[in-house]
Amino acid sequence: MTQPGGMAAGSEHGDEHLGDPGRANRQTPEQYLPDGGVEPPAAFDVADVHPELADEAVVAEIVAPDRDIRAEVGEPLLQMQGVTMRFGGLTALDAVTFDIRRGEILGLIGPNGAGKTTCFNAMTGVYRPTEGQVVFDGKPLGKIKRNEITRLGIARTFQNIRLFSDMTALENVVVGTDARHRTSVPGAVFRSKRHRAEERDALDRAMALLEFVGVGKRATQQARNLPYGDQRRLEIARALATEPKLLCLDEPAAGFNPAEKVELMELIRKIRDDGYTVLLIEHDMRLVMGVTDRVVVLEFGRKIADGLPRDVSADPAVIAAYLGVPDDATA
Ligand SMILES: Nc1ncnc2c1ncn2[C@@H]1O[C@H](COP(=O)(O)OP(=O)(O)OP(=O)(O)O)[C@@H](O)[C@H]1O
Ligand SMILES: [Mg+2]
Repeated sequence: MTQPGGMAAGSEHGDEHLGDPGRANRQTPEQYLPDGGVEPPAAFDVADVHPELADEAVVAEIVAPDRDIRAEVGEPLLQMQGVTMRFGGLTALDAVTFDIRRGEILGLIGPNGAGKTTCFNAMTGVYRPTEGQVVFDGKPLGKIKRNEITRLGIARTFQNIRLFSDMTALENVVVGTDARHRTSVPGAVFRSKRHRAEERDALDRAMALLEFVGVGKRATQQARNLPYGDQRRLEIARALATEPKLLCLDEPAAGFNPAEKVELMELIRKIRDDGYTVLLIEHDMRLVMGVTDRVVVLEFGRKIADGLPRDVSADPAVIAAYLGVPDDATA
């Protein structure tokens, strides 16, 4: 039996894995594993196994089946309402208020320690705000548990990659689809018809998601053996597997070279075009400005700007806090 291994990398502030390893273990459908133990081929053509996945339109349809019924673009999907987060004497977020609108890519930027990851943690139920509240899809998150928040439609990736490193790429994504499964425990134990159908759907969707993010050829490889960039993409596929309305990406291009960054931004745009709303933390200012519809800037836990990328990048407070002094000011 495949044992989920440790995370591929460290963790930040109290975040946890999507699904605990024990649960993932139980849910790993062994019957579709290649052959357990034998090193998988370096790459295979997905279309050999799933001919229909050679068609991009089919992939897109499987990835976001309900994108047409998503509510009005532009309406607030998530609202941070005066969210304050204190850790002892440290105020990591100070009365932060902003909206994420449906269908947009919102950039969240700010210097190291500004509170960006803490925002994610407050939105995904890792932390309860000390003051204020997070409203998602019209519903205050209050004391709602993390797995319930996932079900409501918020998914995230982590600043430090977290994958089940001993599981295959495909299994890692199936773990994500699991968050959607509705069969009861007895249903799973007795392998009810519905449970089997869900397993099949989960596999099909997981495979389509791997194709979608560009790592379909790695499906049967252990996550730990994937090149770093593919691991980052795999994390995104796993987050998308929960069928989120809002996808939160915490520095997904960290450690990428410029060409890889551009490719990743193209993927993020594709995700948005497919009907998702995206919240993107990214340090590379040029990238953020190129891909986002709006930008929120944090500094020392406070929101110091919120607006269109071109306005934010010209804002003197932002320049002082984050962008550094522009070249022409020093000439
Ligand atoms: N669980 C915690 N306990 C104590 N302090 C914390 C905790 N989580 C975050 N902090 C502190 O809150 C502040 C904001 O941290 P956060 O990780 O949100 O910043 P960030 O904007 O994501 O920074 P980076 O760009 O380095 O990732 C930092 O000073 C951090 O040390
Ligand atoms: Mg961070």
